[in-house]
Parts: sequence; structure tokens; C-alpha cells
Amino acid sequence: MRTNPRPGQLERHSRNTLYEQVADRIENLIHGGTLRPGARIPSVRRLSKQLSVSVTTVLEGYRLLEDKGFIEARPQSGYYVRVPLQSPPVPEKTTSCEQATDLEAGDLVLRILREANRPDIVPLGAAVPSAEFLPTARLNRILSQVVRRDPHGSQLYDEVTGLKSLRVQIARRALESGVTTNPDEIVTTAGTQEAIHLCLRAVTKPGDTVAVESPTYYGLLEALAGLHLKSIEIATDPNEGICLTDLDTALATKSVRACVLVPSFGNPLGHCMSDDNRRELLQVLRKHDVPLIEDDAYGDLTFNGVRPKAVKAFDEHGQVLMCSSFSKTLAPGYRIGWAMPGRYKTAVEKLKFSTSVATATPTQMAVAAYLESGGFDRYLRGLRRTYRDLVARMIGSVGEHFPAGTRVTRPQGGHVLWVEMPEGIDSIRLHEEALSEGVSIAPGPLFTATQRYTNCVRLNCAISWTPAVDAAIATVGHLAKIQLAKAQLS
Ligand SMILES: Cc1ncc(COP(=O)(O)O)c(C=O)c1O
Repeated sequence: MRTNPRPGQLERHSRNTLYEQVADRIENLIHGGTLRPGARIPSVRRLSKQLSVSVTTVLEGYRLLEDKGFIEARPQSGYYVRVPLQSPPVPEKTTSCEQATDLEAGDLVLRILREANRPDIVPLGAAVPSAEFLPTARLNRILSQVVRRDPHGSQLYDEVTGLKSLRVQIARRALESGVTTNPDEIVTTAGTQEAIHLCLRAVTKPGDTVAVESPTYYGLLEALAGLHLKSIEIATDPNEGICLTDLDTALATKSVRACVLVPSFGNPLGHCMSDDNRRELLQVLRKHDVPLIEDDAYGDLTFNGVRPKAVKAFDEHGQVLMCSSFSKTLAPGYRIGWAMPGRYKTAVEKLKFSTSVATATPTQMAVAAYLESGGFDRYLRGLRRTYRDLVARMIGSVGEHFPAGTRVTRPQGGHVLWVEMPEGIDSIRLHEEALSEGVSIAPGPLFTATQRYTNCVRLNCAISWTPAVDAAIATVGHLAKIQLAKAQLS
């Protein structure tokens, strides 16, 4: 008979080996701040007694942590949490931009997306996860199975709202984010991007103003530009998210028709709003009768095992239109996303039909079958650990190689970092210079419509950590130092 481990004990039937679980425990304590840089970690003997495993198992776990660069052995003394060479501070809260701004769609975004697919480039620019982390082989196998099993059905348009079996799975997964919904309240879409586009069209008309975080995801700014909408950028804290006081003031003094936020592991800042702030956000929006489009593309990618609740989980009035996808967790190229548009559901359904009739049937079938077959949560746990490690390594590497005075975010989920370098850096020029050295980065001005953040870049961490990636960060840091030195001379 299988018995559950006592609290604090390791799981002997887990797919992870015992030594990996030991490593994981310590790593969680490091990431959670319980074990700070320089702290001594429990002795091998003590931990082996505590966890009822052999000394060799603990030693193997500690060796794994050494390999990952989290701890170091000190002769005659034991194991310690490594002190990063430089631990860059976190950027300060940004500022709001008073004026609603007309947006200009640039072609730099398209270039950065193209660079992500070039095999000769280290792709730190676009926020696209490397295929090796995703269950690509299994998903593709399921895709060919479902198409073979139902050759006619897979060629037909499905319902405008999307394949029922997929909507059932999405509704089930919504419970993880605290949202109780049913499949009839969901419209499937070609990714989060289409979902946001449809929701924006449902609640605004050309010329309207939309409140957004600053900096914000460039795909959102492009969508606003394409729909002839203006944006008003609200101050955002790299840990806590949008400044609710500034949002309240903006809604009280300007005519704002909608608010679009990424409350869980926002892109590019990686912030995550607390539950209290999510409740307060809804109150502020309700006071001014403004709907929220909630972009939850990264919500599943928490680092500490607790998935944040969606703002929609607190929504009692149908004022939240929630949008998300499987792009960051399963397959960006399958283009499977969804909207839960609350009281705007019929409007979004009509817009979906007028835009693209329905979402592609074969990939909807494949994702539904994948989710039905189980194992998604276990896979997700591994993916979160992978991204957490990669983000930690990238922070360390930036601290080591970038100019003094650089600041870096500390996201608790997702896979992007926002790096703020000293004034004097021109990140658009830095992008060009880095590209000629084989590295793609996303310059800060892409994330605003107000020509700010010229000294900032966003880095994608969802690629395997290799010496080439470390060298790529060193190259960008070196180029930034040269720019700064020249700026100081002139
Ligand atoms: C915050 C955010 N929203 C939406 C998207 C678009 O995602 P999708 O591929 O699901 O359309 C991205 C992609 O990077 C993103 O970062």
C-alpha cells in the first residue's frame, strides 16, 4: 500500500529522485529568502536525520545545488548560500504619464520576433520559451492522433466560441486561479493577443483612451495603435504592480474607457499584485465604471508553488474580461488562447466571428486531448522550477557583467527580466550593437508610447543556460559599458 510521507519528509514515489527533492527544498528556502546569501545551510548529517534519508542522498543534493551555482562548500566549515558577485538592486517604481498619447506602431517589434527564430542569434529579445522546455513531442504525437481519429471533424469549423471539450478543460483549470466559470462563458482565440484585441474592441471605440501599466507589453501597445486607441500610462512598481492611487486619479480626471493589466508576473516588470490590491483595483474600477481586461498569460508560471488568484476571482459584477493562452506553457505556435469576457461575452463572440470565424480546430483538439490525458500539473511544476533557476542565473550574470548602477527586477514568476542601466545608455543602439555580435535584446522604448526607458532592456530567460548565454550577457554588458564611457567623455 502506498503511504503518504509525514509532513517534512520526502516523497519516495515521486518522479523526482530523493536527492533532487533535497536540492529543491534548499533552493526553495533560498528563493523564498529564508536562507539569505552567505547563510550556512543545514549540515549534511542534520538534514539526513531530519529527512530520514542517507548522508549520500543529501550530499548528492548539495552537489546539484553547487552545480547550479546556488551554494558553495567551504573547507572545514560546511555549505553556504553563494553570495552573488554583485546583487543589483531592484528598479524603483516608474512614473505615470499625464497625457493620453497617440501611439506609433514601429517595425522594431517585428524585427525582434524575427530574431527569435534565427539559429545564429542568442534570443534574449522576444519573450518566447525555448521549445526544449515544452512537451513538444507529446503534443505533436497527440495532434497527429486526434486528426487521424477524426479526419472530418478536424477539418471543419468548430463553434465560434471554440471546441467544447477544450472549453471544459479551460473552465476546470480556471479553478486553479480561483475563477469559477463554465464552458459557455469562454471563447477560444488565437492566443492571448487575439483575446485582448477582441475584448478591447468589445469595450472601446476608436479614439478612446485605455489605462495601462508602464512599462507594458509591446503587443498591447501595438494592438491599441491598430485600433486607434490612446494609452495613458500609469506608474507601476516592479514588485507590487500598478499604482492604485495614480490609477484612481487618472480615472477621476480623464475619460478612460478600459484598463488593460497583466497583474500576475507582468511583462516586462514581472510584478505580482497582492490579493488586497486586486480587490482594491476592482473597487477603483467599479467606482469609475471602467472594465478591466486582465491579461493572465504568465499566471501559471509562479516560482513559489502558489498560483496567484486572478483579479477575475474577486469579480462579482462581470466587469473583468480575462484573457490567457497556452503559449507560455505548452506551444506558442499552436495559437490556443481564450477570453472569459464576463458580461461582454456575446459582444466578444460576435467579434470573434467577424474577425476569424473560429479558432483552428486541430490544435484545439490536440490541447484538449493533452489536458484530458493528465500530467499537465506535474509538468508545470517542473517548468516553474526551470524558469525560476534560469531567472536566478540571469540576475547573477547581469550583476556580474553589466555597468555599476544597473538595477534588475526580481520576478516571482514568468520568464522575463527588466534591466535598468544608468542614464546615458541608448538601448535602441545597444540592440543594434548586440545584434551585430549575435545577441538579440528588447530595448526599453518598445514598452512605452512615451519615448521613455531608453536606458532599459528586457531579457528573456526561457532559454537553456549555456556558456554561450552567459557570454551573450557579458557581451551586452561590455557594450553598455563602452556606451557609458563614451557618454561620460562627451
Ligand atoms: C503579457 C503578454 N500578453 C500576451 C502575449 C501574447 O501571447 P499569445 O502568444 O498567447 O498571443 C504575450 C507574449 O509574449 C505577453 O507577454
